[in-house]
Amino acid sequence: MAGRLDGNVAIVTGAASGIGAASARVFAEEGAKVALADRNHGLLDEVVRDIVDRGGEAVAIETDVGSEASVQRMVDQTVQRFGALHIMYANAGISGRFDLETVTAEEFDRVIQVNLRGPFFCAKYATPKIADSGGGSVIFTASELALVGSPGASVYSASKAGLIGMARGLALDYADAGVRFNCICPGAVDTPMLWGEEKGERDAIEADISSRMPLGRVGRPDEIAKSALYLASDDSSFVTGHALVVDGGWTVR
Ligand SMILES: NC(=O)c1ccc[n+]([C@@H]2O[C@H](COP(=O)([O-])OP(=O)(O)OC[C@H]3O[C@@H](n4cnc5c(N)ncnc54)[C@H](O)[C@@H]3O)[C@@H](O)[C@H]2O)c1
Repeated sequence: MAGRLDGNVAIVTGAASGIGAASARVFAEEGAKVALADRNHGLLDEVVRDIVDRGGEAVAIETDVGSEASVQRMVDQTVQRFGALHIMYANAGISGRFDLETVTAEEFDRVIQVNLRGPFFCAKYATPKIADSGGGSVIFTASELALVGSPGASVYSASKAGLIGMARGLALDYADAGVRFNCICPGAVDTPMLWGEEKGERDAIEADISSRMPLGRVGRPDEIAKSALYLASDDSSFVTGHALVVDGGWTVR
């Protein structure tokens, strides 16, 4: 059966865990050759082995998206290995809750470096390769917290809201080159980041979030991966500069 990404080459950052790992799996199942990038090399190798065992084509590239040189190397190695690039899913991110009066410049800079500067440099190096390959899609993982506030999340929210502005600008800059730029804004999703972020016992936290969630539960990583598949594939060929909210209805309350 034909896959929705047959003939495509994709990079997914943050691919060792959570949303990135689920997306790399879905992209490979749909026929893409996938470069999985993460700073956590051990976990990354496990995900790649699993994809290859299931008949997919995948490679692990140890990458720190906070480093421009590392991002450039990630893109170059992908193109050397697979000969083209069509999809850049800049998904890696870190959380962080800080008080305005005690946050340090280093803490502020680290969140921006990974969550905003990282995706920007992913776009910088990937976009010309995508244009040279005949066009394609760049996707950023923003957050529902780009759209609504949450206590202590001002720096994280700023980094994620910045991605939406960035996608809109780049969508205009590269429309003629056939490269589309979109964001996904996930709500609470069952990944290590969610449980690491919240203080307390996991079952109690999950019950509390679920009780306030219109759809009555937290999201699964594969539900975000399917949104990424939509934005990566030709199914979204007329969609650019968009922020797709996938949050179980949290932000419509
Ligand atoms: N889980 C949620 O509820 C949720 C909600 C909204 C947005 N998000 C966003 O989704 C994205 C994926 O997060 P997740 O929930 O899958 O969390 P996760 O912790 O499971 O995965 C994040 C991955 O990013 C990697 N990473 C972190 N910093 C990196 C760096 N500098 N270079 C390379 N890799 C790095 C980590 O090693 C990890 O494998 C993040 O951008 C996050 O902000 C998550």
